Amino acid sequence: MAARPTQSAEDYLERIHELIEEKGYARVVDIAETLNVREASVTSMVQRLGEQGYLNYARYRGLVLTDKGREVACRIQRRHEILARFFSLLGIDADTQQRDIEGIEHHLSPSTVTLLADLADFFEKQPDALERFRASRRRGSGAP
Ligand code: FE2
Repeated sequence: MAARPTQSAEDYLERIHELIEEKGYARVVDIAETLNVREASVTSMVQRLGEQGYLNYARYRGLVLTDKGREVACRIQRRHEILARFFSLLGIDADTQQRDIEGIEHHLSPSTVTLLADLADFFEKQPDALERFRASRRRGSGAP
């Protein structure tokens, strides 16, 4: 199996991909701001990701993901979307979702992500089951 990027490398690839999709480019300053890290940290991570073949630095265009980088970023994005779909079904608000997903997404094994996707499918296809779960929580039986 190919080496997987580290947790923080995944964070960077995810954010760079998002910035490129949103704005058409990813600048070091924007990456630093959205990840809440120093620009020097971004520069060294970008250099490392370049050496590992995930991205290139193109004059004028800035950072560009390679096919390999894009593939990893898309996989990270899909995983984020699966978790968001699952959390939305459970009624978790957008801000909490964002924070919690960023906190756990890099630690989940692929089989757990698949399980959560299946569970989301199950609840989407059986809204009455979801409603029973919600009603049970309203009664307080599901609270820790
Ligand atoms: Fe994410």
